[in-house]
Amino acid sequence: MTTTARTNPPPTIRREDYRPPAFLVDEVDLHLALHPAATRVKARLDLRRNPAAEPATALELDGEALKLVSLRLDGAALPPERVRPRADGGLSIDGVPDRFVLESEVEISPEANSELSGLYLSGGNYFTQCEAEGFRRITFFPDRPDVMARYTTTIEADRAACPVLLSNGNPDGAGDLPDGRHWARWVDPHPKPSYLFAVVAGDLVAVRDSFTTRSGREVALAIWVRQGDEDACGHAMDSLKRSMAWDEETYGLEYDLDVFNIAAVSDFNMGAMENKGLNVFNTKYILARPETATDADYEGIETVVSHEYFHNWTGNRVTCRDWFQLSLKEGLTVFRDQHFTADQGSAAVKRLADVRRLRAAQFPEDAGPMAHPVRPDSYVEINNFYTATVYQKGAEVVRMMRALVGEAGFRKGMDLYIARHDNQAVTIEDFAQAMQDASGVDLTRFRRWYAQAGTPELRVRDSFDAATGRYTLTLSQSTPPTPGQPEKLPVPIPVRMGLIGADGAERPGAGVLLLEEAEQDFTFEGLEAKPVPSLLRGFSAPVKLSGLSLEQLGFLARHDTDPFVRWDSGQQYAVAEMLRLVEDFRAQRPLDLPEGLAASIAALLDRAMDDPAFTAEALTLPSEDFVSDQMPVADPEAVHAVRQFLRAAIGTRFAGRFAVLHAELADHGPYRIDGAAMGRRALRNACLSYLGQAEGGEGLRRAEAQFNTGGNMTDVLAALRVLADSDSPAREAALAGFHGRWKQHDLVLDKWFAIQAMSARADTLQQVKALVGHLDFDLRNPNRVRALIGAFAAGNPSQFHHASGEGYRFLADSVIALDAVNTQVAARMVGPLGQWKRQDARRGALMRAELARILERPGLSKGTFEKVSKSLA
Ligand code: PHE
Ligand code: ZN
Repeated sequence: MTTTARTNPPPTIRREDYRPPAFLVDEVDLHLALHPAATRVKARLDLRRNPAAEPATALELDGEALKLVSLRLDGAALPPERVRPRADGGLSIDGVPDRFVLESEVEISPEANSELSGLYLSGGNYFTQCEAEGFRRITFFPDRPDVMARYTTTIEADRAACPVLLSNGNPDGAGDLPDGRHWARWVDPHPKPSYLFAVVAGDLVAVRDSFTTRSGREVALAIWVRQGDEDACGHAMDSLKRSMAWDEETYGLEYDLDVFNIAAVSDFNMGAMENKGLNVFNTKYILARPETATDADYEGIETVVSHEYFHNWTGNRVTCRDWFQLSLKEGLTVFRDQHFTADQGSAAVKRLADVRRLRAAQFPEDAGPMAHPVRPDSYVEINNFYTATVYQKGAEVVRMMRALVGEAGFRKGMDLYIARHDNQAVTIEDFAQAMQDASGVDLTRFRRWYAQAGTPELRVRDSFDAATGRYTLTLSQSTPPTPGQPEKLPVPIPVRMGLIGADGAERPGAGVLLLEEAEQDFTFEGLEAKPVPSLLRGFSAPVKLSGLSLEQLGFLARHDTDPFVRWDSGQQYAVAEMLRLVEDFRAQRPLDLPEGLAASIAALLDRAMDDPAFTAEALTLPSEDFVSDQMPVADPEAVHAVRQFLRAAIGTRFAGRFAVLHAELADHGPYRIDGAAMGRRALRNACLSYLGQAEGGEGLRRAEAQFNTGGNMTDVLAALRVLADSDSPAREAALAGFHGRWKQHDLVLDKWFAIQAMSARADTLQQVKALVGHLDFDLRNPNRVRALIGAFAAGNPSQFHHASGEGYRFLADSVIALDAVNTQVAARMVGPLGQWKRQDARRGALMRAELARILERPGLSKGTFEKVSKSLA
């Protein structure tokens, strides 16, 4: 670390500079003697020159925060002149033979590791996190994913403190040692990149189950948690078993070890990690009880458990050649987990949620200073590229590919991909080639989706010739410039569509149009009257659609057979009305509830119980951010005022119907987590949310009652959210009561922080600042940081963008403080400040000033430096 502001920027890594590794590692024999302050790691590596690489004179080993104890080559100590320390903490070793054994011993300090990368302590237990570049914080190694080796790992620790010793692969012996210590050995038969290495050691208990693969392998499943949490693992275990069965049925992919272990940890930078045979999970994605977890939490658990499990084939058996290929495993695995969840029940509602998320996180990223292709061309800090673009847009690209090659072609493509590349580290190009070869569909142009950043804009015009009965759809596309990519080429856009007649019935002509050029006409014959086009059914491509009239949108919201288009048209319709109200608000004209919007709410309520989950989604107004994104210059205050006005006006107008639904939908009997029960709760709480804004205070009384009597966290939290937004005297009592009841439960306490951070009240920033000083706040716990600082900056636009600029200052101060503790979490918090170009000049200047202030800090990490400097550009 330097002590002055960076004078020389950290180096940029480029995809085009990729070279194969000069040396390969066949076997790794690791020995970890665990100790909180001084863990000793011995590594024995079998190395050989890579015949496919350019000859190199030196062996390059990565290393970071390692204290070298000894280094031997083929049994002999290496003379110091052959070992050159690198500025980044690695080592260059000169004059090595073609094949040799390297033995190193290093010392590391898990208790000093607040980065949570490498080996660290959490609640007295040891965990590792190696993706992307954490293994180099454990031992000297060519820490890159295209070096795949077989690992044997021996862990040694104090038996009382660490009764449980886990690593990758299958168990291979254990025993006692003097001084109250013991050991265990694990052998992983599958070659793997270092980023999939893991060790977990400590005082954990197992919840056990088993799964028999279809070829008859009996797999011992275990979820390792702290004592007292055993009762909260059922949903995770059930999700795991369903995932294992689904991957067999859908892709013929079976699990390949005798054990599958999951360990849960409270301090974790991300959601979870797919280490071979030993997944490590943020407790947030394992633990759930009806009293402590919401329906959204249950859904998150199913998503993440399945995601990590599916990585066993898409990521682990076939891995990435380099980190530019990250979406090879992430985009594909997100696609797989989305498909899995859709297959579990409510496919349509699942799709709405996924699209909502893509639009909320990925579209702004793709329009902002950090915009990058699904396969980036360069990075400074790879941790900054675990993005919505690599994950969510990457999944959309796989989904489109499936639409192009067909379901059967896609399955053949997956089979070929795995047959060709099992145990290899490959590229996105290899994946596309396998899909193309197996299906016979030319994907040459389609590959542009991987190379081009930015969200394509799809425009529609239509015309009808009554004399001939010919209907013409004209589709055109363009992609706005992004940093480093001023010019864009057209991309193939699959547009799943249908035509709806004036009577609301489907007309012939439904199918998939493939827009490949900048503009194309598509004609339909034999229509008696002009239909309304239903476009992008199921959101068949991640693009922004425009060109439909308000009237057409309103019609589709009522009549389309495709639930996605029905929902989306309603949302677009609402956006248009909200933008009109924003104009009224700015001109200080009185605001009125638009009758068209009221009519569509009424229509939704008439059919509310047809599909409660869908109704809940459709009743929810577009988010403030989504509305702001449709404006040339954002106006967070006006958008907030308009949205709050509408919520109150709708709540008041339909108070009677909301109250009836709210009462009717109350949960009776035991809590259930199936789609139907979750849909009922979602609708019930959507009604409560409107009632909470309605005149008369009846909603607040209902919220208070629901808060006091709610039998599950979904209902309790929905009620608390209503109270937290209010000035009701019940607010303080509810917040205090909630804290008192749940102060021992980290994950519930996170909700308590987040709810206050996202409150619409004008004093929210003051409250958030006070909460930073709360005894339960901890800058070293990423979940807590996300719950308070992240929720405020990314989840409360009107307060974050407060005209005073205090929100910006608070976030900058937080980033600076965090950068000294956990640079990955710090860099992730920068995002909202990077959106300054979207704001008015005054706010933009305030935001830039805060970014500049961060940049001046001495010793800024390269990750935070990259985010801040790119945000300023
Ligand atoms: N690879 C993990 C996943 O997608 C995410 C992750 C990245 C976790 C980096 C930790 C560190 O499931
Ligand atoms: Zn993943």
